[in-house]
Amino acid sequence: MKKVRLNIDGKDVEAEEGTTLLEAAQAAGIHIPTLCYHEKLAPYGACRFCTVEISKNGKTRLVTSCVYNVEAGLAVKTGSPKVIKMRKMLLELMLASAPVLSELASQYGVEKPRFKSEVTQCILCGLCVRYCAEVKGANAITFVGRGVGRRVAFIDEVVSTGVCMDCRECFGVCPTGKIPRETDGASFEGITVQDVLARTRSK
Ligand code: FES
Repeated sequence: MKKVRLNIDGKDVEAEEGTTLLEAAQAAGIHIPTLCYHEKLAPYGACRFCTVEISKNGKTRLVTSCVYNVEAGLAVKTGSPKVIKMRKMLLELMLASAPVLSELASQYGVEKPRFKSEVTQCILCGLCVRYCAEVKGANAITFVGRGVGRRVAFIDEVVSTGVCMDCRECFGVCPTGKIPRETDGASFEGITVQDVLARTRSK
């Protein structure tokens, strides 16, 4: 596999062609924060929290590092003022629906959400949905609804087969803890799509 050379935060890095900026940074020991990334899953690019600033041929722009592939000669900044501003803005948006992210938000100096929103404690990162489908092959969780009504929900026909009782691996991938909270942390017994939606709406 061909290698490309680039620079991340002042460090010269060599990465295989076809890998992402996030993977190249991780391999070089450089941390980029993520909310919807998981190494076992196909890149999704939903949260944009992994945004970095790239420069090439005198042009600079922000890109989503988990879905942007390495290029020779790129200069990448993972914590430039523009990057931090973007992460702050994203947190102001996410905090409205997921106040549970307040600790992360305060690390960026964000204390209040930018807008009012229904509190669901879900940032729609899709980690639970994708993990269940791609890693477990169970397809027990799905997105339901559209626009501001979009939610994740368990599919009771699948849950009722008992597959979730022995798994529960989605508990560990949920960045806000919504999934374990809405399943009482342990039991899927009797849970239905309607239950999950009702609990979500009441929060
Ligand atoms: S981690 Fe890259 S978009 Fe979410």
